[in-house]
This record gives sequence, structure tokens and C-alpha cells, in this order.
Amino acid sequence: MKKILPSILSADFANLERDIKNMESLGVDYFHIDVMDGNFVPNISLGFPIIESIRKISNSVFDVHLMINNPELYVEKFCDIGADMVSFHIETTNHADRILQLIKDKGKKAGIVLNPHTPINSIKYLLHKVDYVLIMTVNPGFGGQRFIPEMLNKIKELDTIRKESNYTFLIEVDGGINIQTSKKCREAGADLLVCGSFLFGAENKENTLKELLK
Ligand code: DX5
Ligand code: ZN
Repeated sequence: MKKILPSILSADFANLERDIKNMESLGVDYFHIDVMDGNFVPNISLGFPIIESIRKISNSVFDVHLMINNPELYVEKFCDIGADMVSFHIETTNHADRILQLIKDKGKKAGIVLNPHTPINSIKYLLHKVDYVLIMTVNPGFGGQRFIPEMLNKIKELDTIRKESNYTFLIEVDGGINIQTSKKCREAGADLLVCGSFLFGAENKENTLKELLK
């Protein structure tokens, strides 16, 4: 499975419904939603009210990426208000196994996110339980940053572990995705590709979506 997930962080927040429907008319059925707390990352983005509002106007899969401290306090509410997939950063908790279970108990897909400097080994004993692993290919906090090329080896390393152990998790990448980096990430083993500024900034979004998967 290879999918492009538009990151609504780069959408026009005064016209979110228009931007989401426009993407859906081009075949998009997954959206990436960045939640930032101004504490774990140096930026604040959006929270419950916006997700609740867009849930009412879209049947697409909502992939909620939590860049917040104390994720255990909030994951269940994100599931209740309409997230289909919820991921949290391993750097934010000592209780990752418990948080995964909270998300799964809600019947949602559970993912773990790794910052660029965080080794795969840190989640070795969780890999059989996760539905997806999100490899950050920029430092989290902002759209429009440059892809960190060293992350390609990290994606390959994770893909190799997945094959060797017959794990079923998906590999997601987030940050600096454009036509070149998308191809490299897919070749390295990534399944889900988040794309923000490059896609929303494109003149021809239909072609860009096609190119991103070519
Ligand atoms: C960054 C966010 C990303 C961001 C990606 O912290 O997690 O999802 O929206 O944006 P681009 O594609 O512009 O790097
Ligand atoms: Zn993200």
C-alpha cells in the first residue's frame, strides 16, 4: 500500500472544508492532522474543536499526529472525536505500551513516531504491536522544512526488520516530501507519505498527487 496523506497544516484554515473536499475530489482518502502543544515542539497548531468540525464534513481516514507531552491524557479523546489513526512520539512518554493499548482499545490504529535522532532500537519491543511507525524526516514543529537525507537509511533499516520478522506495521514518513524525496522514501520501504507545503503549494494538485506516487 502506498498513499499520499495531505497534511492539513498547510491548508487554508479559513477554508478547511473547501481544501479537504478539493483533495477528496482528486482521490485523496487519508488526511494527516498535526497537533502541537507549544511544549514538546516549539509551535502550536490545532486541537479538538477543529478535528470535531472537519469530522462532520469528511469520511476520509484521519491520521492524527500528536506532538504533545503527556499523550496518555489525550489519546482516548482524540479517538472519540473522530481520529482513525493516532500516533504519539516515543520521546514524550515512559509508557508507550500502555498508550498503544489505550488507542487499540478504542478500535483505532496506533502508531509511534520517532524524531530524527531517535533510534529504531528504542521501540524494538513494541514493533509487533504497532499498526504503523512514523519516521520524522524533519524536526517536528513546522511545515516547509528540508528533508533530512540520513533518514533514508533509517527507513531501510526499519523495512529490513519488518521483512526479517514478518511484521505487519506500515511505515509512514513525514516532512520535506516532494517528488524526489517521495520516490526515495518509497524505494526505501515507506508506505504512507505525508505531504504538506509541496502539495498545497502546487499549481496543479491533481498532477502533483500522481507524480508523488510515480
Ligand atoms: C511537521 C509536521 C508535518 C508537516 C509536514 O512537524 O509533522 O506533518 O505538516 O509538512 P511539509 O510536507 O511541508 O514538510
Ligand atoms: Zn505530522
